[in-house]
Amino acid sequence: MTLLDGKSLAEKIRNNVKLDVEELQKQHITPGLAVVLVGNDAASAAYVNMKSKACKEAGIYSVVHEMPETISQENILDIIAMMNRNPNIHGILVQLPLPNHIDTTAILEAIDPTKDVDGFHPYNVGRVVSGLDGYIPATPYGVMKLLEEYNIDPKGLNACIVGASNIVGKPMATLLLNANATVDICHIYTKDLKSHTLNADIICVGVGVPNLIKEDMVKEGAIIIDIGINRTESGKLVGDVDYENVCQKTSFITPVPGGVGPMTIAMLLVNTIKSAKNKITKA
Ligand code: GUN
Repeated sequence: MTLLDGKSLAEKIRNNVKLDVEELQKQHITPGLAVVLVGNDAASAAYVNMKSKACKEAGIYSVVHEMPETISQENILDIIAMMNRNPNIHGILVQLPLPNHIDTTAILEAIDPTKDVDGFHPYNVGRVVSGLDGYIPATPYGVMKLLEEYNIDPKGLNACIVGASNIVGKPMATLLLNANATVDICHIYTKDLKSHTLNADIICVGVGVPNLIKEDMVKEGAIIIDIGINRTESGKLVGDVDYENVCQKTSFITPVPGGVGPMTIAMLLVNTIKSAKNKITKA
């Protein structure tokens, strides 16, 4: 079994981002990322904190617009419109989930697609599905980079994605399909999850259920990508895979923490740099 070390690869990518920032600064451009954080969700606040810290470390300007839970849709749209117009902002990210009274689709669609570094705007979703250049959501993008780093070619592999969210499952399925894997997408209404996972050469799971993937659900030599992040009662960070029992059966597996999580942050920075560079070529 080989560990897919996302922590090391993310560090390498972030160092390259730093060099890119230095190059951009020679052309008097400082890449800028604006983040919108609504409400008091502790996990969202922690993610946003990690993202802005990573920006600062790389030399990317970052600003966080913190808004109360009760903010109106119009106020959020106003902030987005302002950031769309701001030439110093190259990336705009609205941390999800948003409160229930906010129409998430309308908010995501208001972001200028050329600044949509999360890749959640339908324009970018469509381009990526079509195999065209567009912003790829950071988490699945990070998984693909991790596979590439360990010379794992998805071509012809049976892939099983567990979780069908717009943020992780669907774009993960898209990228693996574009890389010529045969893809099953499983979700809460899937009748027999085990029949799908057992057939898989590669399993990507991100649903927020600790120990969902157990030893008897995994075939010998499978590649396991654990995108789940859960905190146990004792405060330990775990994924969605019963790691201790599953790991002996695998050829490759991501640890939690230190697997996919750090890659998500790194790829957000990569997307922000891509947007800043695009502004030069299109100026
Ligand atoms: N919430 C959970 N993951 C993400 C992410 O990658 N981006 C944003 N904007 N919100 C999230």
